[in-house]
Amino acid sequence: MITKSDGITESQFSQLREYIEQQCGIALGDEKAYLIDTRLTKLMVESGCEDFGEFYKLAKSETGTTLRDKIVDAMTTNETLWFRDAHPYKILLEKLIPTFAEELAAGKRSVVRIWSGACSTGQEPYSVAIAVHEHCRTHAGVKPEQFKILGTDISASALFLAKAGRYDRIAMKRGLDDDVRDRYFKQNGQIWVIDETIKKMVEFKKFNLQDPLVCLGRFDIAFLRYVAIYFSDAFKKSLLAAVADVLSPSGYLLVGAVESLRGHSDAFENHTHSGGSYYKRCA
Ligand SMILES: C[S@@+](CC[C@H](N)C(=O)[O-])C[C@H]1O[C@@H](n2cnc3c(N)ncnc32)[C@H](O)[C@@H]1O
Repeated sequence: MITKSDGITESQFSQLREYIEQQCGIALGDEKAYLIDTRLTKLMVESGCEDFGEFYKLAKSETGTTLRDKIVDAMTTNETLWFRDAHPYKILLEKLIPTFAEELAAGKRSVVRIWSGACSTGQEPYSVAIAVHEHCRTHAGVKPEQFKILGTDISASALFLAKAGRYDRIAMKRGLDDDVRDRYFKQNGQIWVIDETIKKMVEFKKFNLQDPLVCLGRFDIAFLRYVAIYFSDAFKKSLLAAVADVLSPSGYLLVGAVESLRGHSDAFENHTHSGGSYYKRCA
């Protein structure tokens, strides 16, 4: 049963949650009426609407994408931090990068493509870039330019911050060791700016995970962390099938620490390393 929220009726909530799921896959449970109320009221007022019913009609009748993009942006949760959960980066540094680095050194491949499929404000792909850079700094025969990192997200405002590579004091306190911070960031007043070498290693693109992933090319490693938790089971399944299709035969997938593929995909084998879990595409 839908849990009521003061500013939105049950039918307005039903209409808007269906609209939101269609646009970005975010599936709001019955108890989430308050989320639309808190996140979209300002936009509803700014759009000149008197209530969420009028706002829904306006969004549905839009021929362009301006209002849709603002709605999606407001409904996304961009929570992220540096080296989130630590173990994916241990797996990356101790297992995946050395495996691919060996292939690079042996001339079996010329490049390794890594995708951060819901990169938010950039902490995830930049953490990957720092891990790659650290490996190259301490191992001869492999160069950072051989790793191509792509960060994609649906949220334009999150991507804007990611591309700028500028972070405030609070963001910098979340997950960064002082020595990594001092090596890869410069302080400019209250802002920390990521080093150009790391910035250059990451390309950012706006991309909706509902769109065909083949448009992004093939990847050797995919980070799809803390995003599928917002999607319906049906969308999760089709997304994981699409991820398996764009991963190279020896490709790897990393999901959030609280996420599991069980019941959603049998295209991956589960592996563990140092207490953390990662997935390898079934051959
Ligand atoms: C909680 S953040 C996770 C960020 C990062 N992966 C991490 O683990 O720290 C979820 C991100 O998913 C993005 N997102 C939600 N729906 C999406 C969609 N359909 N396509 C692409 N990105 C989406 C949001 O904009 C948000 O930045």
